[in-house]
Amino acid sequence: MRHRLVPLLAVLCAAVAACGRDEYEPGDGDEAFCSWTCAIFTLQWPGGFCQSLDNASLCQIPQRVSTWMIHGLWPMNVRECCGCWPMFLSDVQELREALENRWPSLLKSRSGFHFWRDEWEKHGACAACVEGLNSPLRYFQTCLKLRQYFDLHKVLEGGGIRPSCDRTYKLTEVQDVLFPLVGDKCEIQCVKDEQEREVWFQVKILLSRNLTVGCRGHGAERAARASTGHPCPARGTFYFLPINHERPLRPCG
Ligand SMILES: *[C@@H]1O[C@H](CO)[C@@H](O)[C@H](O)[C@H]1NC(C)=O
Ligand SMILES: *[C@@H]1O[C@H](CO)[C@@H](O)[C@H](O)[C@H]1NC(C)=O
Repeated sequence: MRHRLVPLLAVLCAAVAACGRDEYEPGDGDEAFCSWTCAIFTLQWPGGFCQSLDNASLCQIPQRVSTWMIHGLWPMNVRECCGCWPMFLSDVQELREALENRWPSLLKSRSGFHFWRDEWEKHGACAACVEGLNSPLRYFQTCLKLRQYFDLHKVLEGGGIRPSCDRTYKLTEVQDVLFPLVGDKCEIQCVKDEQEREVWFQVKILLSRNLTVGCRGHGAERAARASTGHPCPARGTFYFLPINHERPLRPCG
């Protein structure tokens, strides 16, 4: 694992080095939302995203989207973010293209910016007491670096795990391939599609406050499980469906 740590820290230091003087300074009363010890970095697979919606006709996969995308970086066990730090598109203007490419909205009714702003207000603003996450710009920069580092596609491809309409995978097989990159505390998440098949759609990576892989914080295991979808079944198999821009819900026809 040690050799993995170096590039991760290198990219994060690059993010931190961009710090200016307009940093967030924690003051009285910030403890409740700044006291997190663990965070979850969630990546979603567009080939399974539509299946995760109650109303699948609301989803779309833009043409440029062809691999794992960011869902969010979520500090755990924070009571609530203060709604006191509004975010504007101008805050992330310089990252806009990168965000459109790596953190797109897959909902027809929501623009990329609305997705980012929701994530910032729900999660980012409570991460803001950590250096490198202490403004919308730095939060999104750091997330983009994390996405670059956690290149699931490359590792899966190297391990022979490819999207397929026919082949199914076992949880242990996927975990073994991903282990060197994400450790053993990550959650491989599935949803059930229309045909009641288990379909892989998300990976949740547990991180420490310093954004290294893994975390021993209390409640980490519990909170890691609470969200849409469920852990892919430990018994049996699941699908890793291809991305189909024309038929996002039924990629295999
Ligand atoms: C799903 O969304 C579409 C588009 O907004 C809408 O026309 C349809 O009624 C919705 N279906 C359900 C079951 O809510
Ligand atoms: C990051 O935090 C974890 C948990 O607190 C700690 O074990 C680890 O040594 C830290 N790593 C670095 C590089 O600071």
